[in-house]
Order: sequence, then structure tokens, then C-alpha cells
Amino acid sequence: MPPKSVAASRTTLTELMIPSYANFGGKIHGGILLSLMDKVAFACASKHSGAYCVTVSVEGVNFRQAVEVGELVSLMASVNYVGRTSMVIGIKVIAENVRTGTVKHTNTSYFTMVATDDDHKPTEVPPLLLETPDDTRRFMEAMKRKELKETYKEEFDNEKSRIRVEDGGLDILKKERCIVGYDNSDSNDFND
Ligand SMILES: CC(C)(COP(=O)(O)OP(=O)(O)OC[C@H]1O[C@@H](n2cnc3c(N)ncnc32)[C@H](O)[C@@H]1OP(=O)(O)O)[C@@H](O)C(=O)NCCC(=O)NCCS
Repeated sequence: MPPKSVAASRTTLTELMIPSYANFGGKIHGGILLSLMDKVAFACASKHSGAYCVTVSVEGVNFRQAVEVGELVSLMASVNYVGRTSMVIGIKVIAENVRTGTVKHTNTSYFTMVATDDDHKPTEVPPLLLETPDDTRRFMEAMKRKELKETYKEEFDNEKSRIRVEDGGLDILKKERCIVGYDNSDSNDFND
């Protein structure tokens, strides 16, 4: 499979924030921005892979500043990393005040997309041609993020297995802003 450059699939989606996108506080709903991010990630990943892509994971969604009605939001997406069937799409979101021209960077997030075939099974994607030092840095950062995510998962699974809701295990809650308001001798757990 011949490699494809980062530039070949770089995609920008721009949309005006209309009043129906606002929440009760008058700011743009986070869900609207997430939906736009998913769309641009899909377009970018599909361009790189030439396949139908699905979202498997979303990372780094921190809304640093509110987006206002009337602002022009641009989402710039590029392939940061490719595995065998997966691609990490980096998305930078900016919001522009069209009257003043002021631009703010609201967030940068990473969507992992998987290319699928006609049977909805993961299918191989082209290698990534890194044409600039920035392309290379982003690829290496994505490798590190992936490695740390795996370490975090292992550590969390390990720590999780040590969490006890009985026999003094609740001591760690002493400095937290919560109150155990049930009889602790009869604990029900619906999540695990
Ligand atoms: C995506 C999907 C087809 C993958 O199927 P699967 O049987 O898990 O396939 P694999 O285990 O071979 O994983 C495929 C790739 O996804 C990657 N992957 C799977 N889960 C992941 C996760 N949580 N985070 C990052 N990468 C992930 C794997 O590392 C692998 O990458 P690689 O081929 O580049 O090494 C399947 O999980 C699916 O259909 N998920 C639902 C997707 C969807 O509906 N999304 C819409 C939003 S709800």
C-alpha cells in the first residue's frame, strides 16, 4: 500500500454558531462542538484511508473557553498517526468573532478512527508520509500518548481491584466532600 501524506487528507470544517446551538446560559452546547469534531474526524480519516471510518475513542476534550452565538468556528483536522487499521486525527478548534476578527483557541482533541470494510471489519490503512518536522513531532507525540494510555489503563485496573467499600476502605473518603448515607453493611453494586 503506498503511503499518503498528512497534507493529502487535511480537512477544515467551518460553521457559524447559530442561536439554536446555544444552551440555557446562551453559550454553545459542548455536544454541538463534539458533533462537529466527529464529522471533521470522519472526513479526514475517510480521505486518508479511502474507507468508511468509525470513531473508537476520543481524548483531550477540554473546553478551555466558551464559544458564543455568532462566532465562526473552524475545526482543523489532520492525521497525526496511523496504526494498522486505526488513525489518530488531531483536531484544533478555533472560534472567530466575525465583527472584531478576534480568534480564540477553544480546544485540541484527538479522535481515534478505525477504517472498516464492507463487512464492517477493520481494514488496513495506508502508511503516513511525514513531510515536515511538525508531521513527525505529532506522530511521535501520538505514539507516546498511546503508550501512556496503555500504562494508565493497566495501573487503573490494578488500583481499581484494590478499592474496597467495606472494612475501613472508606477511610480515603474522609477528606472528600461526600457523605456515606446508607448502611455500609449491605452494599449493592450495579456497575461491575
Ligand atoms: C471499531 C471496531 C470495528 C473495531 O473492531 P475490533 O474488533 O475491536 O478491532 P480490533 O481489536 O482489531 O481494533 C482495531 C483497531 O482499533 C484500535 N482500537 C480499538 N479500540 C481502541 C480504543 N479504545 N482506543 C484506541 N484504539 C482502539 C486497535 O488498537 C486497532 O488498531 P490497529 O489496527 O491500528 O492496531 C469496533 O470496535 C466497532 O465497531 N466499534 C463501534 C464503533 C462505533 O460505532 N462508533 C460510533 C460512535 S458510538
